[in-house]
Amino acid sequence: MRIGVLTSGGDAPGMNAVIRAVVRAGIQSGDQVFGIYDGYRGLVEGKITEFTRKDVSEILSKGGTILGTARLPEFKYEQVRALAQRQLEKYDIDSLIVIGGDGTYTGALRLHEMGINTIGIPGTIDNDIASTDYTIGFSTALNTACEAIDKLRDTSSSHQRCSIIEVMGRHCGDLALYSGICCGAEYIITSETGLDKDKLLKDLKSNRLAGRKHAIVVISENITDVHQLAKDVEAFSGYECRATVLGYVQRGGTPTPEDRLLAARLGKYSVDLLHEGITGVAVGIRQNELHYTPIEQALIMQNETSEELTKLVQKIS
Ligand code: F6P
Repeated sequence: MRIGVLTSGGDAPGMNAVIRAVVRAGIQSGDQVFGIYDGYRGLVEGKITEFTRKDVSEILSKGGTILGTARLPEFKYEQVRALAQRQLEKYDIDSLIVIGGDGTYTGALRLHEMGINTIGIPGTIDNDIASTDYTIGFSTALNTACEAIDKLRDTSSSHQRCSIIEVMGRHCGDLALYSGICCGAEYIITSETGLDKDKLLKDLKSNRLAGRKHAIVVISENITDVHQLAKDVEAFSGYECRATVLGYVQRGGTPTPEDRLLAARLGKYSVDLLHEGITGVAVGIRQNELHYTPIEQALIMQNETSEELTKLVQKIS
């Protein structure tokens, strides 16, 4: 087979580990593997090179993606996708493995509908792909967020402040929920929990009056203006308050062993599926078992907030 591989959307630690796994598993199975640079944009523009085993050595522990990535909203247009198809024909590439989040999967679905053999691998820090328990990059981003929150607790405690920490996740609360639990945050606010500002302010005030010296609030992005929220907390609760937006630091760094392992497993699995003639699917893990879901279904499945984790928060915060 002649397999093309690309990374698309926001980069995530572990993307290089998947590229390596796909290239090496493909070559091991007698395939030729082509790296496509800069996501769907590079596919359309024909930025395509055949990869050898050596081209992917020493990338396993590197953050980012050696292939580069891009967001290409224009990929929704048929004429743009037709250009992509032409490039695949030019290089005689018969199958495509795309690594990314839901935007990447939407592109993959359209290509699949055009008759192109396509497989999607979940690579995003957001953990917002419901067809897998974990996405590649989530573990590393969670580690980064936890390290930062622990440090912010040190200074909040020294100064007797409330610290509001905004983490990424687009519209998925997993990064906030998991990091909040791991760092013992007093409050965790996600799109799933919603923000009840009055209640938060009142709770903080009574905690302050009860003598609790500092507080950590972890909140998902896209919920509210955290700098304004910090001002409101300061005006109402009696705590001095600071807001910190962790931002893009969560997207970088060397991938954790969990992300590397997941990347290796899903990369090799995708090549195996192509050899079995299975395409148009998104791969993932469920209860630590490899499995696949039609991309169409993966895109409409709802991310379920872990009930158990939500209850845990209520009991121990
Ligand atoms: O999907 C990954 C992510 O980092 C989200 O958490 C965030 O909302 C978004 O990408 C930011 O996108 P951009 O890199 O286009 O600013």
